[in-house]
Amino acid sequence: MDRRDRLIARARQGYRLAYGAEPTRFFAAPGRVNLIGEHVDYNDGYVLPCAIDRETIVALGPADREAKVPRFEAVALDMGDMASARDAFDLIGPILPGENAWQNHVRGVVQALARYGHRIRPARIAIAGDVPIGAGLSSSAAFGVAVALAVSEYSGLGLAPDRLAKVAQIAENDFVGCACGIMDQMASAASVAGHALLLDCRSLETMPIPIHAGLAITVIDTGIRRNLTESAFNQRRAECEAAAAHFGLKALRDCDSTRLLLAEPDLDPVLFRRARHVVTEMDRIEPVGVALARGDTGVLAALMGEAHRSLSEDFEVSLPPIDRLAELVADALGDAGGVRLTGAGFGGCLVAVSRHDAVSVIDDAIGRYNRDADLPARAEQFRPVDGAAPVVLA
Ligand code: GLA
Repeated sequence: MDRRDRLIARARQGYRLAYGAEPTRFFAAPGRVNLIGEHVDYNDGYVLPCAIDRETIVALGPADREAKVPRFEAVALDMGDMASARDAFDLIGPILPGENAWQNHVRGVVQALARYGHRIRPARIAIAGDVPIGAGLSSSAAFGVAVALAVSEYSGLGLAPDRLAKVAQIAENDFVGCACGIMDQMASAASVAGHALLLDCRSLETMPIPIHAGLAITVIDTGIRRNLTESAFNQRRAECEAAAAHFGLKALRDCDSTRLLLAEPDLDPVLFRRARHVVTEMDRIEPVGVALARGDTGVLAALMGEAHRSLSEDFEVSLPPIDRLAELVADALGDAGGVRLTGAGFGGCLVAVSRHDAVSVIDDAIGRYNRDADLPARAEQFRPVDGAAPVVLA
């Protein structure tokens, strides 16, 4: 049994145990790793993530036909035991925003679909996933997109990937309390296997960029966990908006380095550094895309190194142990690949893009780091996979 078969078996078993019936359909949505373009999505710029072979599976079947009022029922197998991790709600009652609960996430997706004017068909679902939670690999986006896809397909809506992503983002923004951008949901909904997804976060246009076959994607989990809602993420977003307002711009996407440098004397120094991260990061997207397609690890080493320093010094979303690990890995890789913090930061993961034969030096560097680290880091290779889709069972 492979990884996905095991996950499907888990979702199927959870469904049976929760509802005493067989699910009729399965849906999947992957997590993602961002290769370049960090904290750029909510500034309307370009980003370059790829979906990874870790995902959320939703097992779905019809609503309870005996119930007087048709209700939506959900069980989340990774969120507690079978008794506590359940929810039931009707489709007309209000959904009250609450503390980061998965129940609100599911309800929020349904509500967001309804906001678009769609008629939702109540269903029973069981949700199981293997995207590590809180690691910066978008377990939350995978969860939201998988539920959105399942409900959309079961209701006969056939929504396009950008719509599913939007619905999942609204659910997180309005019902989970995280002011996240659109990158994670789009990566989960619209990625193409073997490619990174160049995404214009303003227009939501996408262009898949092939990842050279000679490149390995290694995610290094620092073991340091964060909670995005409670972190300084929302504060960083507000700072970027304040910087854009200083320039009289809609978003920092519309700023460039000349304009930024001219404004340095008048701009609050913290806002200046936040804006400098965003503006310089935007300049790195295209060259990194070209280097990924060509397998040019020297360029990746230089630009991912710059990106990490910018996240650490200007955007201040790294932590001392993460900087130490990034430096050890970068030194070990040399020109054989690049490494940087990925995702929101404040913990989570580093991503390295390197030649396949350089993966062992990454492991050696992690070994050196782990000798005196409080939490051991570990590395894993991921494949760039397709975005969310119904599961076709063999
Ligand atoms: C989190 C958010 C994304 C994005 C990244 C940082 O993953 O959910 O929208 O802002 O952080 O690039």
